[in-house]
Amino acid sequence: MLASVAVIGGGTMGNGIAQVFACNGTDVKLVDIDAGVLERARSTIETSLARLVKKERMSDADAKAALGRLALTTSLDDCADRELVVEAVPERLELKTGIFAKLDAVVGDSCILASNTSSISITVIAAATHRADRVIGMHFMNPVPIMKLVEVIRGNDTSDATTQTVTEAAKALGKVPVTAQDYPGFISNRVLMPMINEAVYCLMEGVADREAIDQIMKLGMAHPMGPLALADFIGLDVCVEILDVLKNGLGDDKYRACPLLRRMVAAGHLGRKTGRGFYTY
Ligand code: NAI
Repeated sequence: MLASVAVIGGGTMGNGIAQVFACNGTDVKLVDIDAGVLERARSTIETSLARLVKKERMSDADAKAALGRLALTTSLDDCADRELVVEAVPERLELKTGIFAKLDAVVGDSCILASNTSSISITVIAAATHRADRVIGMHFMNPVPIMKLVEVIRGNDTSDATTQTVTEAAKALGKVPVTAQDYPGFISNRVLMPMINEAVYCLMEGVADREAIDQIMKLGMAHPMGPLALADFIGLDVCVEILDVLKNGLGDDKYRACPLLRRMVAAGHLGRKTGRGFYTY
């Protein structure tokens, strides 16, 4: 178990990642540029822990101890003493490379820098640092406290030692780490996004209505959620962005986003977050 981590970005993913580390005995610094986000992240974590206490899955004392291990800061400089930093800022290449370059100068030599990116190349992020052997992908799934998988992505120069440390850290969180090499979309999105895209093509072509498409995948393939409902959950804009990464990165038109998906994004119907996607919320 690592003694100290920092999580950069206190949004959807960052606050979940901070929570699971704090609950498993690690001292966590949560960093965000927005102090308001940090306060909201702390209260989200408090609420989540209170729910666990109520369900008797955690003692009140353990919940208090976990909160006591969480510190909030708006300065990357506070990461200087960390063993591992997990970055979870928005999916924009220049933002991530800028943060990694800064962290590289701030943290100690042995510190591992991990990114929670869904689709940006770990090799490209690592190239912004002088420690490509200690840069890795640590891709948690949403919601972090519940989902078991951590997709561990090895960049071109990620060392075996770094991979092992991060794999062990994920196990210590009660997660199941699975390793993938650094190719566009890794495994999770390389397989998931074409399925979602094909479901949208089925809808666009009138093969079936949205309920039928989702029912077939739920009942026939034992998926907990149909692909259209899942796309709404992920965000239709995020789906288009990831499909573009696959199409450009792999140079294959088979990954082109369905015109209906693009049209819905253009209309501002992005799924749950805007109250309307394939379904209304
Ligand atoms: P989010 O938008 O909810 O949170 C990002 C946070 O980063 C915001 O609170 C923002 O204030 C903060 N931030 C922006 N610039 C910063 C900077 N320079 N320094 C410190 N903090 C900064 O984003 P979300 O959804 O948590 O995604 C984060 C990453 O996780 C992305 O790379 C995304 O692709 C990945 N991811 C997202 C999943 C999801 O379901 N939302 C699932 C798996 C991965």
